[in-house]
Amino acid sequence: MSTFTLPGLGFPLIQAPMAGVQGSALAIAVCRAGGLGSLPAAMLSPEALRVELHRLGAGTSGPYNVNFFCHVPPVADAQREAAWRRLLGPYYRELGIDPAGIPAGAGRAPFSEAYADVLEAFRPAVVSFHFGLPAAPLVARVKAWGGRVLASATTVAEALWLEAHGADAIIAQGLEAGGHRGMFLSDALSTQMGLFALLPQIVARVRVPVIAAGGIADAAGVRAAMALGAAGVQVGTAYLLADEATTSAVHRRALQHEEAGHTALTTLFTGRPARGIVNRLIRELGPLPAEAPAFPLATAAIAPLRARAEADGSGDFSPLWAGQNASGCRAAAAGITAGLAEGFPTI
Ligand SMILES: Cc1cc2nc3c(=O)[nH]c(=O)nc-3n(C[C@H](O)[C@H](O)[C@H](O)COP(=O)(O)O)c2cc1C
Repeated sequence: MSTFTLPGLGFPLIQAPMAGVQGSALAIAVCRAGGLGSLPAAMLSPEALRVELHRLGAGTSGPYNVNFFCHVPPVADAQREAAWRRLLGPYYRELGIDPAGIPAGAGRAPFSEAYADVLEAFRPAVVSFHFGLPAAPLVARVKAWGGRVLASATTVAEALWLEAHGADAIIAQGLEAGGHRGMFLSDALSTQMGLFALLPQIVARVRVPVIAAGGIADAAGVRAAMALGAAGVQVGTAYLLADEATTSAVHRRALQHEEAGHTALTTLFTGRPARGIVNRLIRELGPLPAEAPAFPLATAAIAPLRARAEADGSGDFSPLWAGQNASGCRAAAAGITAGLAEGFPTI
């Protein structure tokens, strides 16, 4: 298997896009260190995306990746929303929050023509997607400016689907990975595999390059992934404590504590399964409550609890996204990138 290459890229290391904990500053630092920095756009308006892309372009002349979600926005279900707020009722009372004043809201927008309009002016070398791919005309727009289309697969079936629908490379997202599962063909968690099981099976079945993601924290992890046929790696959790990330104080504290060793897949914070450090809300309600509204609608009802608790320095109601291996976390993005790069054979 050949490595994943792009003009101007030092080595096939992608800094995982991480919505909510980083912007252009982290991406720029990684690009300057020779990796592929990523800008997560799932929580940015088109206007905010344009501002961040200007910063990226000013900060690096190297290639970069812009990442989007491509979920189908759900139809709101009033009954489920009411059940959800009932479940959270005791916490509203405890923290003195009036649930009637909480607006319903989406929180995360899928890729669309409006985002493509903004992107087109910047022509990013790579555009990556989570939760499948957008409609064919949108994929075609990215390819029209020469952009490479990447997308996450969590099963062999998803990898085959992505290849058939135009992905230029596939990110094999092992079960160890922090943040949202990119799963999109099935919502059965029993389909999800650890990276050592998933990666070689995908490599054996697709022709496009496969990028390994999930639990990679150091050069030895990079070497292991490359030995299993990866064309490159995508690393997220190791960058969460980087000075250039915007990770909150409560999140940073949890990552440096022993509790970081205990993560779970939970639908509590957004409605889709995502891996985060087990905190009070997960412990008390269980990680996968039936009442959680469809992605991304669960977010709105949690937001005021999170804000109130965080103001008091507590992460009890925060999504503390992290993968199963936080041992690679360091302070400076350049150092993290250089350390990981030592695992590539040509360096
Ligand atoms: C805090 C956090 C936020 C994430 N947000 C995104 C995102 O916005 N888009 C995306 O494609 N993947 C996202 N991911 C998943 C990463 O792309 C990747 O699969 C994962 O970080 C790899 O595993 P690792 O965290 O063990 O390195 C996120 C991961 C984390 C830890």
